Amino acid sequence: MNADWNSRDKAHVWHPFTQVSYAPDNILIERGEGSCFIDADGNKFIDGISSWWVNLHGHCHPHIIEAITAQLHQLEHSIFAAFTHKPGIALAERLLTHLPGFDKVFFSDNGSTAVEVALKMTFQYWANKGTPKTKVIAFKDAYHGDTFGGMSVAARNAFNKPFEPLLFDVIAIDLPTDNNISDILQQMEAALQHEDVSCFIFEPLVLGASGMLMYSAAHLQQLITLCRKYNCLTIADEVMTGFGRTGQFFAIDHLEGRPDIVCISKGITGGFFALGATACRQFIFDAFVSSDKMKTFFHGHSYTGNPTTCAAAIASMDLMEDTATLNKIQHIALSHTAFAAELCNNPRIENVRHTGTILAFDIRTGESTNYLNNAAEPLAAFFLKRGIILRPLGNVVYVLPPYCITDLELASIYQAIRELLQ
Ligand SMILES: Cc1ncc(COP(=O)(O)O)c(C=O)c1O
Repeated sequence: MNADWNSRDKAHVWHPFTQVSYAPDNILIERGEGSCFIDADGNKFIDGISSWWVNLHGHCHPHIIEAITAQLHQLEHSIFAAFTHKPGIALAERLLTHLPGFDKVFFSDNGSTAVEVALKMTFQYWANKGTPKTKVIAFKDAYHGDTFGGMSVAARNAFNKPFEPLLFDVIAIDLPTDNNISDILQQMEAALQHEDVSCFIFEPLVLGASGMLMYSAAHLQQLITLCRKYNCLTIADEVMTGFGRTGQFFAIDHLEGRPDIVCISKGITGGFFALGATACRQFIFDAFVSSDKMKTFFHGHSYTGNPTTCAAAIASMDLMEDTATLNKIQHIALSHTAFAAELCNNPRIENVRHTGTILAFDIRTGESTNYLNNAAEPLAAFFLKRGIILRPLGNVVYVLPPYCITDLELASIYQAIRELLQ
């Protein structure tokens, strides 16, 4: 990095998920173009993880830029209580066309707030109905964001260790597999006996930050069906899996049934702005409609429903709905399937897995597989040296590209992985 910018960065900026005592200098990105970044020295990097899973159509996509620019000339922002605007209304309608069975959309700021809103909506739903319930069932290895509610319903690990005394307890169940599914269903049925159980929250099909752990739609459907039998609300956290990542528009589209609440963020604006959305069914909304003021959902953020952000999201939806994008998603999924078949007998790795456009495997290191595995930094450096941004989750290497990635770019990621495993 340019020395002056580097020292200014070091002097004043605190970067996320970064241990400065050993982290290399940050790379100064100058611009983005398609699936690539170009740094201040003119080096090009393929963004193999879609910039923390947000970018869908490539950096600086002209269609989204045009929509944002037009919106900025009209209305940059307005309060969203007692006022509304066309981009907010149009985006809610557009999202719901892809969420049959859901009726209302509540906007917030990011993935963590989409989850907070879902949890608060659930707890208050039960309170408003006159039967307060606050117990949550969640997967043992889940990740649902860095706010306190999100951390509480997630795995207890390095991400939240210092805050553990402050987190609320959840009933944690293991991820289902073909071998343990009957045990898991029993665990779930036992958990559902608690009078206080309000909801089951889950990342559908892929648990992202915990290491791209994958499980089947059929097993998830069995868990949801059981929850419904016991009147337990179900919350799908689609923050990472939404917008085509698993091969369908939403991961819940792989299911026969529908959950009650869905949390959306990351890809919603095509990777341009932070935006969270929590969609729910009508009966949940109805529990908040009352002449009793105390039944109001007293939640909101200053930038809730920001119209410029909504305009970006609508433009991203235009691109998502284009058959070229849908075909590209299938094409990436097929490429991953072929590459996974090539990798699966390699003795240096294990658990080769893929769902839709997400491919992952664990490097055998002798250490346990987790986020703190010491392989993470050398692995990231190996790929960076080859002009590829992959940011392994510990020893878990994964590829999660923007849909605009070219065959050549994807092939160069695969080739770098082959070199790594030689
Ligand atoms: C499943 C899931 N939920 C919630 C979040 C939190 O989203 P954000 O980082 O936008 O707060 C993430 C982020 O990775 C996620 O993967």
